[in-house]
Amino acid sequence: MVNEKEYEYVVSAAGRVNIIGEHVDYCGGKVFPAALGMRNTVYVRPNGTNKINLSWTTLPDTVVLDIDKLDTYRALKYGNYQAGSALLWQNAGHKVIGCDMVQDCTVPFGSGLSSSAAIEVSTIAALAAVAGEHVDPVEVALTAQRAEREYAGVNCGIMDQYASACGKKGHAMLLDCKTLACEYVPVKLGDCSLVIVNCNKPHSLVESKYNERRAQTEEAFEILRKPAGISCLAELTPETFERFVHLLQGKVRDRARHVAEECERVRKAAVAMKAGDTAMLGALLNESHASLRDLYEVTGKELDALADAAQRHEACLGSRMTGGGFGGCTVSVVRTEGVADFKASVCRAYEQATGYAASCYETEIADGITVRKI
Ligand code: GLA
Repeated sequence: MVNEKEYEYVVSAAGRVNIIGEHVDYCGGKVFPAALGMRNTVYVRPNGTNKINLSWTTLPDTVVLDIDKLDTYRALKYGNYQAGSALLWQNAGHKVIGCDMVQDCTVPFGSGLSSSAAIEVSTIAALAAVAGEHVDPVEVALTAQRAEREYAGVNCGIMDQYASACGKKGHAMLLDCKTLACEYVPVKLGDCSLVIVNCNKPHSLVESKYNERRAQTEEAFEILRKPAGISCLAELTPETFERFVHLLQGKVRDRARHVAEECERVRKAAVAMKAGDTAMLGALLNESHASLRDLYEVTGKELDALADAAQRHEACLGSRMTGGGFGGCTVSVVRTEGVADFKASVCRAYEQATGYAASCYETEIADGITVRKI
């Protein structure tokens, strides 16, 4: 437990669930995530030195980061995200001062719920708070994304960091990843709830597979840019895609088809959410999962087994993997009265199919960055 009174600020940023719009953010598409109550909380106070002293509520380690050598901590097992975030914030011209930080993360690591974005965003917001700066959450998100790319080596889009920083209680964000225009849409599911289940399969080689998928979409864009007259791959409608499909081959064609069709599903899902049409939303989730499995190939045996068990349950209107894939979580639209049975039966079926025990989480849709002076 942290004794709050010993610190100056408590700053937090959210994990996120993406309702739909997967692997389209880096193609300039729209995504539909929501920030979660699961988050990274940072307790921070200035310490008058040129060091950031890092500790964790859940780890015995302590790490000391020299603020004049922030580019030297890439190989740290713990603390590398914080070092990268501080470095990129400093490089953006902000003052980073010596401070003590305790980090308390309730977003499960490797769950596809963006624990890394929550860590990056909250660390930057804490550094800004302790230096007396008022932060612009969008600038924090963009800097955190740069840290993930340049320090952690994942060539990610903006979705996770944006959702972590800019989330709004009770709302999903219909975020245009090309312009960063964001429409907040109340999550109104009538007699249904969103249920998140973790397949608990440790993922491996995620960075290289992620970067490879991204490169394939870039290849498709280069081929289609002139003939289709598009300024990003996400501008492809399913109809334009069909018109130019002959120019693409193999996996690159499959990846581009996923992007075109997933973007269309996001448009429909936002309409369905606004209309309270949970049956339509659920059907779109199922289609999204199938596309991520068959065309984008980022699901894997465990996520497929989990989505399959969910989709078969009578109280479930739709289910899909959420996040980058290759492990992590599913998100499902489930009739609230059937949630308890859904969780028990899905976990049972999944364990029988794979040997892994799944975990279910409460899905509270919360704010992004919070800053409180103690
Ligand atoms: C990861 C990335 C995001 C996004 C998703 C897939 O979470 O960090 O930018 O690309 O995968 O939608």
